[in-house]
Amino acid sequence: MADIESLLKEKRRFKPSAEFAKQANWNSRTVAEYRKLAARSPQQFWAKMARENVSWFTRWKKVLDWEPPFARWFVGGKLNVAYNCLDRHLEGEHAWRRNKAAIIWEGEPGDQRVLTYGQLHREVCKFANVLKGLGVKKGDRVALYMPMIPELAIAMLACARIGAPHSIVFGGFSAEALRDRINDAGAVAVVTADGGFRRGKPLPLKLAVDEALKGADSVKHVVVARRCENPVTMQEGRDHWWHELMDAASPNHQAAKLDSEHPLFILYTSGTTGKPKGILHTTGGYLTHATTTAKAIFDLKDDDTYWCTADIGWVTGHSYVVYGILANGATTFMYEGAPTTPGPDRFWDIIERHRITIFYTAPTAIRTFVRLGDEHPKKHDLSSLRLLGTVGEPINPEAWIWYHRLIGGKRCPIVDTWWQTETGGVMITPLPGETETVPGSATRPFPGVDAEVFTQEGKPAKPPDGGFLVLRKPWPGMLRGIWGDPARFREQYWSQYPNIYFAGDGAHRDKRGYFWIMGRIDDVMNVSGHRIGTMEVESALVSHEQVAEAAVVGRPDDITGTALAAFVTPRAGTAAGGAFADELRRHVTREIGAIARPADIRFTDALPKTRSGKIMRRLLRDIASGKETVGDTSTLEDYSVLAKLRESEEA
Ligand code: PRX
Repeated sequence: MADIESLLKEKRRFKPSAEFAKQANWNSRTVAEYRKLAARSPQQFWAKMARENVSWFTRWKKVLDWEPPFARWFVGGKLNVAYNCLDRHLEGEHAWRRNKAAIIWEGEPGDQRVLTYGQLHREVCKFANVLKGLGVKKGDRVALYMPMIPELAIAMLACARIGAPHSIVFGGFSAEALRDRINDAGAVAVVTADGGFRRGKPLPLKLAVDEALKGADSVKHVVVARRCENPVTMQEGRDHWWHELMDAASPNHQAAKLDSEHPLFILYTSGTTGKPKGILHTTGGYLTHATTTAKAIFDLKDDDTYWCTADIGWVTGHSYVVYGILANGATTFMYEGAPTTPGPDRFWDIIERHRITIFYTAPTAIRTFVRLGDEHPKKHDLSSLRLLGTVGEPINPEAWIWYHRLIGGKRCPIVDTWWQTETGGVMITPLPGETETVPGSATRPFPGVDAEVFTQEGKPAKPPDGGFLVLRKPWPGMLRGIWGDPARFREQYWSQYPNIYFAGDGAHRDKRGYFWIMGRIDDVMNVSGHRIGTMEVESALVSHEQVAEAAVVGRPDDITGTALAAFVTPRAGTAAGGAFADELRRHVTREIGAIARPADIRFTDALPKTRSGKIMRRLLRDIASGKETVGDTSTLEDYSVLAKLRESEEA
């Protein structure tokens, strides 16, 4: 894997405008100064950030205690994450924020709610008292299985306030998945809702909780928020209505003074085995990382209305819908429902009506919008936007350019942010007032982050050679382990190279040192002895003006070892057939070279995706090689896509 070949050549460059650079929280001078400090001493840099961006009850004694692979940051320090997100905006020089919007929320049916910092603080204090009243103690785990409603943020912050680590399970997961996660964490309580609106219908969450709790004995209490008024059964003694408990709760609550390494949350993510991993994050380091990156990368200002479209059930929502944003005293916008309900322009309509200034979303969403057609964003006034971001997967340069032109009006910097559930916060990213961006590259590591591309032998790869993305030094937001499984923690992340974090992504650096993330290692194919990232072929396909989305996988081939199979979603109105397939093969040959020419091309109007929007390449590999689908398909968003793909024929 030492020489994953990078065949993609992107020449376009985008400098931040002088106007943006001038007003940026971190301008090029600040960035240069921080890079210099961090290069000399990452610990000094992070300690400076912890002092400037986080409020502590007790200052730490030692910045870092590193016994690989276990890190402790800001050892001896005491703080509270909810205090940092709320209380400190109600006192001192920021006391005026009491009446500033903390959360602006819109439900799928169009209903709206606004919670000011003062109101959110009051609700969180009350819910902290509710949890206490149910017997939830510091250290107890609480599972949150909720729609995207303000109560989810309130519940998280209340858990943080009393020191009960939360485990948020995305509302799209099944009852079984919820049960496994509750059991693995040994949760004592579940907070849920009757339902949440998704594509016009209530998703019956409470029903799934009832199902999950048959076989989850650790749970003593369930709190149910009323959202959809869909019928639910309440079990006497176990189940409680949110509004009834809240009505009786005191609004006075003192945030617990927690140790810097006190567990803040567990978040489950899938790995190479069937069992999800409970990624553990703690308090002081995580908050320092989330808050500092949010301030620098999203350039948060007091008059911004910031919208991250991720569900809070994913790490992006933890760090950049809630914690990192509220800790900065900014206004976070939250949307409950589907991006295309009631129409394909829902997002653009929201941006126009709420005058969103900063917009952070996923490449898969952008490609969906490309496919839906330019007329939808064009109908709306998007001039409030000043900064755009992407996260979750590599962004194809063509999608990047579309985002830049159609959504950003050619004036907004785009931050392509690379990170993982495990890293807690962004690790590789442009800084919008400083960095010249190149479509498709996440550019450079954040100051204090030591990222590198390694060869198989554990040496830095020579640009432009590809290799494995690693992190050589501990960072404050890093995972502290896999819940209950230290052996798997070592094996998964620390066994490839001694004391170095193995991210599981392929990457390469270009001559100026910019990083190009090529996707997960198992998405890298070896064709005739040449290693090619699926991403690069996909980008080439998507760069064809009649292609909306494409996924490429390898299938076994007698002659070349692996042959490329492409699944292509054409833009509306394209005649998909043999002639178009040949044209695409020629197009890829032109863009990259004959080596990347797909052997098979299938046309499809949808690709199999997880609920978080990731293409399930494993399933595509099975289809491409004519195998029955084996293994877990429980995270698949839409089963019918699979059936249709099986019936599809090669063009
Ligand atoms: O493969 C990388 C991809 O998403 C993986 C992490 O997924 P998850 O833990 O679900 O967290 C997603 C949100 C932080 C990474 O290993 N990934 C994430 N961001 C990018 C990316 N790939 C390329 N470019 C990115 N900006």
